[in-house]
Amino acid sequence: MKLNIALLAGDGIGPEVIDQAVKVCDAIAKKHNHDINWKPALTGAAAIDAVGEPYPDETHEICANADAVLFGAIGHPRFDNDPSAKVRPEQGLLKMRQKLGLFANVRPTFTFPSLIDKSPLKRDRIEGTDLIILRELTGGIYFGERGRKDGGNTAFDTMTYQRFEIERLAKKGFDMAMKRSKKLCCVDKANVLESSRLWRETVQAMEKDYPEVEVTYEFIDAVAMRLIQWPKGYDVIITANLFGDILTDEASVIAGSMGLMPSSSVGSKVSLYEPIHGSYPQAAGKDIANPLATVLSAAMLFEDMNMTQEAEEIRRVVNKSLAEGYVTEDLADGGKSYKTSEVGDWLASNI
Ligand code: IPM
Ligand code: MN
Repeated sequence: MKLNIALLAGDGIGPEVIDQAVKVCDAIAKKHNHDINWKPALTGAAAIDAVGEPYPDETHEICANADAVLFGAIGHPRFDNDPSAKVRPEQGLLKMRQKLGLFANVRPTFTFPSLIDKSPLKRDRIEGTDLIILRELTGGIYFGERGRKDGGNTAFDTMTYQRFEIERLAKKGFDMAMKRSKKLCCVDKANVLESSRLWRETVQAMEKDYPEVEVTYEFIDAVAMRLIQWPKGYDVIITANLFGDILTDEASVIAGSMGLMPSSSVGSKVSLYEPIHGSYPQAAGKDIANPLATVLSAAMLFEDMNMTQEAEEIRRVVNKSLAEGYVTEDLADGGKSYKTSEVGDWLASNI
């Protein structure tokens, strides 16, 4: 099969982890006779430096015309401490999500048998966790009306949701639940927020179309607690943009490392695959970052393209590297560790 994949390395450790995913994908392609045409494009701080904006039109053209987008990371510390910065790398990611219509962010949380004891949470609580957080990605407080008033002394960001935005996300959640254990949890703050009440009303109205799915409604604050107390109580979670942002970082603790968790962002046409971690600027250029989250994101890409065998082989080689201790320093417990590029080479040669 011929695949055109837009390659957005981005900032910080982005280029290093993307390089390893490319090695693994190329090895898979070779083995299965696929032809991957990588289309590199600029984004984030790297794009601001080159052309003055974080998601240039040219990058959008490349992404919109690709079969999928593989993305590294975005963000640079020089913007974080400068509240007056007019353009920020993160705006590139938000613009990309919006322009590509990526309204659903799929963030699975699972454990790796060889890493259970890496998590600060107790083994019996997390072993066997297998849940998906489906985060709304192009609406809510991230995209609502915002600004300053009172001469700059009052700032506001508005959480707005339209029924159709909730419906299309919830539909993905119900469909996903049908293929899994038929449990769906809608996470909101309906005891306080009007937009959350619209979420509940909308999801409740859809229940009749999915009589087999058991739907529960829980408040975000309670879920923040229960998610790490008893993650096995959840299967598919649907939630608003900001709530999902927070819950998915929290959920990564279950797996033991942020460096392991992949994600996909899907909408109508092209989908995007990225690790959930950030640009980790302290490690940039040092060849020490964990590439596995990006490699596993590439596995999600193959899965979505109905190349199940290819996806499975990628997951298998990742598990093998973990089991055999062929890992970067974050997972080595002070023992022998390998460089980012060495892990990538090892994975590719074991495909
Ligand atoms: C994420 C990130 C982004 C978000 C940032 C970088 C804008 O934290 O993908 O979770 O908040 O969505
Ligand atoms: Mn986040």
